Amino acid sequence: MSKPLLILIILVSIYGTPCTTQAEENIIEPNNTASTNPFNLSIPETFILQTNLSTSSPLIDVFNAAQMTEAILSSSLVSSTSTEFFGPTFFDESNSNPIEQIESSTTTLSIEAPFIKQWQTLGGITRTLSLNTKNDQVLLLQGALKGLVPEFKPTYITSYFGIKTKEAVILLQKRYGIEQNGVVGPKTRALLNQKYLNNLCPQKASVVRLYENINRTNSVPLDYTPPELRKLQSPIKTTGVICLSDEPATALELLFNDAKKEGHQLIVLSGYRRPEIQKLLLAWSSKNNIKSTDEEALSLAEAGHSEHQLGTTVDLGGRSQNFNGPYSSFGETPEGKWLRLNSYKYGFSMSYPKGKEDVTGYIYEPWHFRYIGTTTAKEIYDNGISIQEYLSRQN
Ligand code: DAL
Ligand code: ZN
Repeated sequence: MSKPLLILIILVSIYGTPCTTQAEENIIEPNNTASTNPFNLSIPETFILQTNLSTSSPLIDVFNAAQMTEAILSSSLVSSTSTEFFGPTFFDESNSNPIEQIESSTTTLSIEAPFIKQWQTLGGITRTLSLNTKNDQVLLLQGALKGLVPEFKPTYITSYFGIKTKEAVILLQKRYGIEQNGVVGPKTRALLNQKYLNNLCPQKASVVRLYENINRTNSVPLDYTPPELRKLQSPIKTTGVICLSDEPATALELLFNDAKKEGHQLIVLSGYRRPEIQKLLLAWSSKNNIKSTDEEALSLAEAGHSEHQLGTTVDLGGRSQNFNGPYSSFGETPEGKWLRLNSYKYGFSMSYPKGKEDVTGYIYEPWHFRYIGTTTAKEIYDNGISIQEYLSRQN
């Protein structure tokens, strides 16, 4: 490779059942020295947004909401002042034009991105919040209030639960028929967690697209949401709330169990990604002058072209890299080697293998595995081909 290595990857993925209010035990703290942007996009040191949001929670050290908000707000991404994350643009199923929908929702999402990332990392609001509380969870609350209560202004986001926050909580409670006490107790928490987590990992009846031939040219509809998305749980370690469709999630549990028995501790860095986030990341990387001619930029798919939208695909890391990543050197670690040799047994194939760059259109990604079923994965493995080659031969 003639140019310095610069790999772009995302790991927002997300889910939560409506009743999920606890950060799961299997969610571990990423090493906060990682080169991580709000979406755990691996980026050059110069682009790292790494100031601590708060000293009280190392979980969110890797993500500086305030700094990123500033970066996003000052970027050309934001062409609207809309802050209505839950408004019709983002979720209007009746919108007949998914392109228009994604354009507007991306604009909205770009404003909400820091809070989405926090939500993903922390797993939701788990404690009762009331007047004078000051902590990271208040920040989550205020991010949600900004989207849900028009009277709550972005300048009120301070992580301190003051009178403006209390007033907004009362307005929210009034709107949703909850006792108006201005305290974020179990019912208000459940409402907020449900809204955020369901938005991040949408529940929709749809068909699985296990054999979708998705690449630089072929895409999946932007309004496609995979079926049965569920939050990954123990024994799977994750860097936050990450979801996959049920079948690949079950297969991944087996893989994690067996890897552990053989001494390899893995982590999921990314799973399902909605196309809005993919688009936002592309825009973000372009804002940071990562040119499409850079070979490293080949690592990021356009919205609609990412296997992560299928709900069957994960980015993995391991203990030997401090559960950080994704890194191109992952392939040389014990975990990376184990995955290369064994993932097919669980139905997973490495989508972008070394030496297949011309076929796949992407640089070598030793961390990116797509579930395609055990029979197909074995065939791919036995023949030393890529998923791309396999699927092209079928058509
Ligand atoms: N890095 C892979 C190609 C993606 O963005 O889906
Ligand atoms: Zn990936």
